[in-house]
Amino acid sequence: MVEIAIMGFGVVGSGVGEVLREHAESIARRAKEEIHIKYILDLRDFPDSPFAGRFIKDFNTILNDPDIRIVVEVMGGLHPAFDYVKACLENGKSVVTSNKELVAAKGAELLAIAQKNNLNFLFEASVGGGIPIIRPISQCLAANEVIGIAGILNGTTNFILTKMIRDQMDFDTALALAQKLGYAERDPSADIDGPDACRKICILASLAFGRHVYPEQVHTEGIRGLKLADVEYAESWGGVVKLIGKVKKLDSGKLQIICCPMFIDRDSQLANVDDVFNGILVRGDATGDVVFYGKGAGKLPTASAVVADVIDCVKHLKARKYLFWEDGSPEYVEDYLEDTVPMYVRATAENATMALGTADALFGGVQQLSRKNAPRNELAFVTKEMKEREIREKLQQLAGMGVTIDATIRVADF
Ligand code: HSE
Repeated sequence: MVEIAIMGFGVVGSGVGEVLREHAESIARRAKEEIHIKYILDLRDFPDSPFAGRFIKDFNTILNDPDIRIVVEVMGGLHPAFDYVKACLENGKSVVTSNKELVAAKGAELLAIAQKNNLNFLFEASVGGGIPIIRPISQCLAANEVIGIAGILNGTTNFILTKMIRDQMDFDTALALAQKLGYAERDPSADIDGPDACRKICILASLAFGRHVYPEQVHTEGIRGLKLADVEYAESWGGVVKLIGKVKKLDSGKLQIICCPMFIDRDSQLANVDDVFNGILVRGDATGDVVFYGKGAGKLPTASAVVADVIDCVKHLKARKYLFWEDGSPEYVEDYLEDTVPMYVRATAENATMALGTADALFGGVQQLSRKNAPRNELAFVTKEMKEREIREKLQQLAGMGVTIDATIRVADF
C-alpha cells in the first residue's frame, strides 16, 4: 500500500478524493498497489466528508511522516504551495500538482530538486485539465522536433467568446453568466486578462523546447476590451476571435511566444473549439499537426489527470520518470514587436472613407471589413503581414491624423 497526502480540499482536491475512492479497485489494479489517503491538509473542517478524521491543519504532519511517499498539491496559488512542494521534494516525497501558477513560475527549480533527489514532480493537470497533453508532448511526440504550439487554453474565456459569437451577448453579460455557472476563477481577471492562459503556454513551451519560459517574459493581452463589433468584423473577415497562447521556435534558437486574442480562420482546426472546451495544436516535424481537444477545466476532468499522475508516481517510486527542462534566460524570448503578423484594426474618424484611404496608402494596401449597422464614422481593416513594430508606428501616424484606434487584434497563421 502506498500512503499519500492531499494538500487542499477545494474543487480539485475533493475531486481527487472522490476519484480515488470511487475507482479504488481499478486504480489499485493499474498502479499494482493500493493507494491510501492518509492526510488531507486544509484550513477548513469537513465533518460530513467520507474522509473525516484524516483532515489536518499542520503541513509538518505530512512532511515529517516517512510513510507519505506522494503528496498531491491542489491548493493553487504560489504561496505557501511553493514552499510546501519544495520541502516535500527535499524530504523524499514525490509531488503531483494541478497548480499552473506554481509550475509556470517555479517549474525549472522544482524539476531540478526532483531530479537531484531521484523523485517525480508531475503536473499533467496543470494544462488542459482532463486533456492529456504533458505526457503526449514529453513521451508520445518525443521523436519529433516540435515546431510550434497554439492553443485555446482557458475555458472561461472560450465560453465568453462563444456566447459573444453565437448569441451576440456582450462581454459583461457573458462574463456574469460564466461566473454564475462556476467556470471563472475566483478572481476572474486571471481568466479574462490572460494570465491563466499565459501560464499554460509557458508550461507547454518549457516542456516542448527544454528551457523555462517565465510568464513575465510573455506579452499577454486578455479579452476584456473585446466588443461585439470585433466579433462581427471577424465573421465578415471569415473567422472567429479566440484567446490563443502560441509559441514557435525561431532559427536563431529564440522563442516567439505570445498570449492574446487572435482572428482565427474558419478553416483552422481551432476555430470550432467552443464553450468551455480547450484545444491544443502541436506542430511536429514528423507528425505534422496533432490536435488535443477536451474539457480544460472542472472538478472531475482535472482530478482524473491528477490521479493518473499519482498512479504513474506509484509505478515509478524508484525509477524517475523523465520529465525535465532547464532554467531559461531573459534573452531566450524574442521581443513580440519583432514578429510579423497581419493586424486587424478598428478605428473611428470624422471621415471614415478618407481615413481608410490614408490607411491603405500608409500600409501599402489594406483589406477593408464591413459589418451591418456600423456607425458612419467607424472603419475596420486588416493590414498585410509586417513586423508588429512597423504596424504600431504606422498606427501612431494614423492617430496623429485624427484617427482614433479603438482595437487591434493579431491574425493567426494556423
Ligand atoms: N479558469 C480556468 C479555465 C480553469 O477557465 O480554463 C482551468 O485552469
